[in-house]
Amino acid sequence: MERWRLRSLLALAASAIYLYGFPSTTISYELLVLFHLAIGILLTALLLPFLFRLQRVDAPLARIGWAFLVVGAVLGVVLIFIGTLSRLKPWLFAHIALCVVGSLFVATAWMASHGWLGTTATHRIFRFAGLVLATTAIAAGAWWSRETAWRNANRIVNPQMPAASMDGEGDGPQGKFFPSSAQTKHNSYIPAKYFMQSDACQRCHADIYKQWYSSAHHFSSFNNQWYRKSIEYMQGVAGVQASKWCAGCHDPSLLFSGLFDKPIKEIVDRPEAKAGLSCLMCHSIVQVKSTMGQGDFVLEYPKLHELAASDNPVVRTLHDFLVRVNPEPHRRTFLKPFMRTQTAEFCASCHKVHLDVPVNHYRWVRGFNEYDNWQASGVSGQGARSFYYPANPMMCADCHMPQVRSGDSRARTRRCPRRIRIRRSWS
Ligand code: HEC
Ligand code: HEC
Ligand code: HEC
Ligand code: HEC
Ligand code: HEC
Repeated sequence: MERWRLRSLLALAASAIYLYGFPSTTISYELLVLFHLAIGILLTALLLPFLFRLQRVDAPLARIGWAFLVVGAVLGVVLIFIGTLSRLKPWLFAHIALCVVGSLFVATAWMASHGWLGTTATHRIFRFAGLVLATTAIAAGAWWSRETAWRNANRIVNPQMPAASMDGEGDGPQGKFFPSSAQTKHNSYIPAKYFMQSDACQRCHADIYKQWYSSAHHFSSFNNQWYRKSIEYMQGVAGVQASKWCAGCHDPSLLFSGLFDKPIKEIVDRPEAKAGLSCLMCHSIVQVKSTMGQGDFVLEYPKLHELAASDNPVVRTLHDFLVRVNPEPHRRTFLKPFMRTQTAEFCASCHKVHLDVPVNHYRWVRGFNEYDNWQASGVSGQGARSFYYPANPMMCADCHMPQVRSGDSRARTRRCPRRIRIRRSWS
């Protein structure tokens, strides 16, 4: 029995280090989550009866260690039911801390019983200090691997020199989406259906969905009659290819699936033409390559999304359970750090345009540009006038998506259920 206890403890510790240090959106990671839960439940079941026999354990260190582990394990089981959303982080960290300290003591007692800690008191103290150092190093390493690379991933940085003409933007004239600067990972098409599944998000983010539903972003495609008419006119005078430039910012469902290669009159009545800028447009942008606008971003189609949108009740339940138990892969799939830290540069990818020969068959002309005006203004914290403005710079989201309380009790994006603050989409 003792051997099994130690073995499952080892399996739990190893899987925990991996789960914490290397979150990723892969089937193998999710399987490891399930593995950790299953072994955790098993160990808890083994530990509870053992608790009453603890007095009989000789080594005091082992006794304290197992006691810590029992509390940590029970908290772990509670976490399976309540999930590990941001607001529950203190509980997750309590679970981790209790289990780490418990494992450290049990490991020390086990080594002592095998004579590996040495015989003199000095030996023991030094080797125990070594163990503590090693544990701290592993914890720090896991934290470093989880946080630093992720935070610095794909920061928005401008190239040294802008392209001399539109031909140097995005994939160039050979690209699938030219003259839009938009690109997709692996240069592949993305199924149109993907951008039409905002309802899949509504399940858990009902408030945000409601706000988005009546926003301009929802009505950016041919469900906006001014835009539809503009494209009809443009295709008449400049052709279909040139109008793909507009689609990079207005019609993700049509452009990234290849449907926009057809003239508007063949596609205008399709449901894809009414999807607008859905949740999955903004939340699939994995990189913004400059502040030049023109849709200068890279989109990624997260394969696992098919599980979230699945109609199969078993798959869906499992997905929802995993998102609640460990939302980190979900968070990392749908929100890259630059969306929060460099929101203005993110918005600039669509809110700044210039036209050039491939679009207007004439010459370079600046279109509308909200980014540069914001940057030059005082509120950005980047212009000379910022000297006179309040201490904290304001990004686009601070005015256009102010934090509001939310009633979403299922996703519980922030704070307690029913009284969560979320970004209100689009004033
Ligand atoms: C099963 C419920 C569920 C579904 C369906 C769901 N989410 Fe989430 N979402 C969550 C949870 C839980 C969190 C984490 C909240 C927390 O940690 O407080 C979250 C967080 C997020 C975040 C914030 C990430 C961060 O770093 O703070 C974004 C963005 C997001 N979801 C987008 C989406 C999009 C887009 C969809 C639709 C494809 C979607 N979600 C569908 C449950 C869900
Ligand atoms: C994928 C491209 C894209 C991104 C990214 C984007 N927008 Fe937009 N936005 C648009 C388009 C296109 C419209 C116009 C839709 C329409 O009316 O047809 C628009 C409209 C708006 C409007 C309404 C404008 C009006 O005249 O009423 C606001 C406000 C806005 N966006 C703010 C933002 C903010 C803030 C961000 C960054 C968080 C952002 N947008 C990111 C494409 C984008
Ligand atoms: C770089 C991204 C981008 C490109 C390319 C782009 N737009 Fe827009 N479009 C926007 C944004 C962002 C807005 C909202 C801006 C604002 O209100 O100031 C907008 C607004 C509009 C509007 C006003 C919608 C309304 O309801 O008021 C029309 C019409 C429009 N665009 C048509 C076009 C056409 C036609 C093209 C191609 C010739 C095009 N756009 C290319 C991003 C873009
Ligand atoms: C025009 C781009 C855009 C669209 C469309 C969009 N979002 Fe977001 N979303 C953002 C940005 C940018 C942020 C981060 C804002 C910040 O924290 O500064 C964000 C934040 C979030 C968050 C985290 C909220 C929080 O309180 O931190 C969730 C959840 C989310 N979005 C879900 C959705 C869902 C669901 C939809 C569709 C109904 C949607 N978004 C549509 C750009 C967008
Ligand atoms: C300090 C608050 C604030 C910040 C920061 C801010 N805006 Fe605005 N924005 C406003 C207000 C207020 C209006 C309405 C102005 C009006 O109606 O004349 C507006 C209007 C707009 C419009 C509609 C323009 C139109 O022609 O009707 C768009 C699009 C927009 N902002 C995008 C952005 C983007 C993108 C950013 C970041 C680069 C940004 N805003 C930053 C407050 C802000």
